[in-house]
Amino acid sequence: MHYPDDFLNKKIKKRIEDNNYRQLDLFDDGRIDFVSNDYLGIVKEQRLSRASNHQYQWSLGSRLLGGHHRLYENTESKIACFHEASAALMFNSGYVANLGVLSAVPQRGDSIIYDQMVHASIRDGIRLSHAKHLSYKHLDCDNLERKLKIAQGNVFVVTESVFSTTGDISPLSRIVQLTKKYKAHLIVDEAHSIGIIGQKGEGLCQYLGLHQDIFARIYTYGKAVGCYGASVVGSERLKNYLTNFARCFVYSTALPPYNILQVNHSYDVFPTLTKERKYLQSLVAYFTARAKKSNLAYSCLPSMTHIQSMIIPCNSTVKKVAHKLLNHRVYVKPLLSPSVEKGHESLRINLHVFNTYQDIDILFDALSFILNDFVHEQVVTHKKPAQ
Ligand SMILES: Cc1ncc(COP(=O)(O)O)c(C=O)c1O
Repeated sequence: MHYPDDFLNKKIKKRIEDNNYRQLDLFDDGRIDFVSNDYLGIVKEQRLSRASNHQYQWSLGSRLLGGHHRLYENTESKIACFHEASAALMFNSGYVANLGVLSAVPQRGDSIIYDQMVHASIRDGIRLSHAKHLSYKHLDCDNLERKLKIAQGNVFVVTESVFSTTGDISPLSRIVQLTKKYKAHLIVDEAHSIGIIGQKGEGLCQYLGLHQDIFARIYTYGKAVGCYGASVVGSERLKNYLTNFARCFVYSTALPPYNILQVNHSYDVFPTLTKERKYLQSLVAYFTARAKKSNLAYSCLPSMTHIQSMIIPCNSTVKKVAHKLLNHRVYVKPLLSPSVEKGHESLRINLHVFNTYQDIDILFDALSFILNDFVHEQVVTHKKPAQ
């Protein structure tokens, strides 16, 4: 039977023409994984299997209508305590947590100022808000200050601590100085720093001792924590406010207690993975040195974290490179425009504790082979930018 949905074709065709049409491909364990967000190997090494055998696999409704459970209360207390805050409120995912905070807190007449490279979930939350919004240049505090000077109402500044596409680190100390100076409220998405940054993986805000000056922190559990869900950490009043006004909290079925147990268990596990965090740092150092030595047609962006990226402008070129890497057993995903800015299409390379130095050698040897081939085919049209 054919449903007459031809109207969908216009945008699909445009995607195909622009070389950014997406399709689902199955995760293949046989390849070297530079893609997944399981940075600490908690999923791969089944460190949470005890919790996953648990029985609470149901959910009875939204947290306000039967979906609340004692496990939520224990876990949220534990999360608040670990992150040295008064309260934590769990959401079904990081996407939903960002949507919840940004759509509910800033009001008409207020202003949201955000780093131009923040994640789609933050942008979508901002779109749902009635507040005015302004972006500032990526990591550029002078530009942020200019925006702070003209912002009106209650002002909210939003950034990620470790950026998801480039792995670079937000200048949080300077941002906190500015938000204090202009009496703005800072919201920090710690999706890619929880588990990784800090002695116990507590994230960048606590590592820098800035957490008491931050209005809200968002911790997501689908990455290094190896589970599902997220929490917003801040004051008790913020928690009560979101419980009342965050529509995606109020009007959506809660995660089953089983998920909450997993998160709870992971808060016992990931803080202990100190050796793993150290090893990850050594992988980053090895990767950076190898990238410098490799002298490829494209260079990697400077990043001190487990997220590395190589800019290969043009959707079709970066897709081709990623595809050819599969022939070398190397699994890397291309980031395409419009998900990233045009001209900033890239390979994102996520490093994990289960990656080895040899995996990195295989990646660079493969890249060297593929890109040399490209030069010969004269497919490469963009020169390596000056370093
Ligand atoms: C910075 C950032 N925030 C939020 C999210 C969304 O988190 P989740 O996957 O839990 O919805 C992501 C996911 O990619 C992210 O990178």
